[in-house]
Amino acid sequence: MKITIIGTGYVGLVTGACLAELGNDVFCLDLDEKKVAVLNSGGIPIHEPGLAEIVSRNRAIGRLKFSTDIAASVAHGQIQFIAVGTPPDEDGSADLQYVLAAARNIGKYMTDFKVIVDKSTVPVGTADRVSGAIRTELAARLPPSQASDALADEAPQFSVVSNPEFLKEGAAVEDFMRPDRIVIGCDEGGNGPIARALMTQLYAPFNRNHERTYWMDVRSAEFTKYAANAMLATRISFMNELANLADKVGADIEAVRHGIGSDPRIGHSFLYAGCGYGGSCFPKDVQALERTARSYDQELLILRAVEQVNNNQKHVMGNKIVERFGADLSGKHFALWGLAFKPNTDDMREASSRVLLAELLGRGASVAVHDPVAMSEARRVLDLDFSKTPELLERLRFCDSQMDALQDADALAIVTEWKTYRSPDFNEVRTFLKAPVIFDGRNLYEPAVMNEIGFEYYGIGRSVLARK
Ligand code: UDX
Repeated sequence: MKITIIGTGYVGLVTGACLAELGNDVFCLDLDEKKVAVLNSGGIPIHEPGLAEIVSRNRAIGRLKFSTDIAASVAHGQIQFIAVGTPPDEDGSADLQYVLAAARNIGKYMTDFKVIVDKSTVPVGTADRVSGAIRTELAARLPPSQASDALADEAPQFSVVSNPEFLKEGAAVEDFMRPDRIVIGCDEGGNGPIARALMTQLYAPFNRNHERTYWMDVRSAEFTKYAANAMLATRISFMNELANLADKVGADIEAVRHGIGSDPRIGHSFLYAGCGYGGSCFPKDVQALERTARSYDQELLILRAVEQVNNNQKHVMGNKIVERFGADLSGKHFALWGLAFKPNTDDMREASSRVLLAELLGRGASVAVHDPVAMSEARRVLDLDFSKTPELLERLRFCDSQMDALQDADALAIVTEWKTYRSPDFNEVRTFLKAPVIFDGRNLYEPAVMNEIGFEYYGIGRSVLARK
């Protein structure tokens, strides 16, 4: 099928590449000339396992194209995916300017039937606004003498559907190729049935063994995306809050996690206590849903707490370090493993490492950092974070190896659970560190074992097992 993807960010690029891999003829539009040039010269602007191979294979055989040509992109695809960014506004609501600009362009140039797919995470009701924007452009193309009802007969037809993505960074290709569900919101009347038939055809390869598509109305599909992310964020904040209490009452949050996760009504996933969630989705989507509710005079009390707990949780490591070393950290030196908001990505958006670094450097410490892939992104992001206090960055050192970062540190702090940090040679770690102290923000190690091999160990919600 002929597909256009508008926006070659994280979601657009993965969607475009994977649909090409399935045999579709995919045209990716991005207005960022530099990004398109990078993609056309074989580069990949993001780190995502497996993506580079799929992009280069499909580009080579002409099934995946990148361009800045808006008219050509509209002409190409019968299905037009809108996968542009929806950054939070100042008040936390999703900024739809890029989504609506994409819709207007479609309306301006379309000459035949189009299915427009909202892939970006957008507030409930956005599909109606996308339809409205397209309709306005189509009407503007008619001679002024013709009344708006002429639009129905003469203008090209379209249908807007909602098809939210559930891709995890670091596993996005796998998630796209082996989805546990495909949610599609589609109108029942009007052009809805034609759209449904085309979407059925597009996703047929995923439904061969069993049906994975959940069809629903457009608003419910838009809502489903927010509900899923809000539920996952809630589980994490819930466990983080309990972990902090476990530290006080002398319980082990990992034992509790097993104990409750074995109840099939609860399940094991997304119950890991840590130093807070980050990334491009959870923080933004929780805020946007709260904002949507507020615009309908409803306060989402649970989500407000989820957000607050997470903001506090990003300070948990700093608090533990201050408790151990005192509020004035000048003269102290720390090693920090992990900068990305989670493993297998170089994404630093809302990463807990940024909060910890601000705290350590702000209190006078020096810090040596390591991350297997996020180093150059970290340089960029931290330059911005510390733009008003660049002198603090003089106490920050970027290290090429994780062991190098440990050199002469008073303690090691772990923020991201990269595989390479899971079972280091602890003898070597002890030799490099000035003192054998570890603050583990992702509960990678067993406290009792760490104590046995001579480390002073601080996890999250596990202090009952650790010797202070
Ligand atoms: C998330 C959703 O999982 C995905 O379905 C959606 O489409 C986009 O948002 P992503 O942001 O890539 O994906 O990351 P995810 O793996 O969900 O992790 C988010 C954050 O939660 C990370 O910072 C991670 O460290 C944290 N987390 C996750 C926990 O602290 N505890 C857990 O148990 C799970």
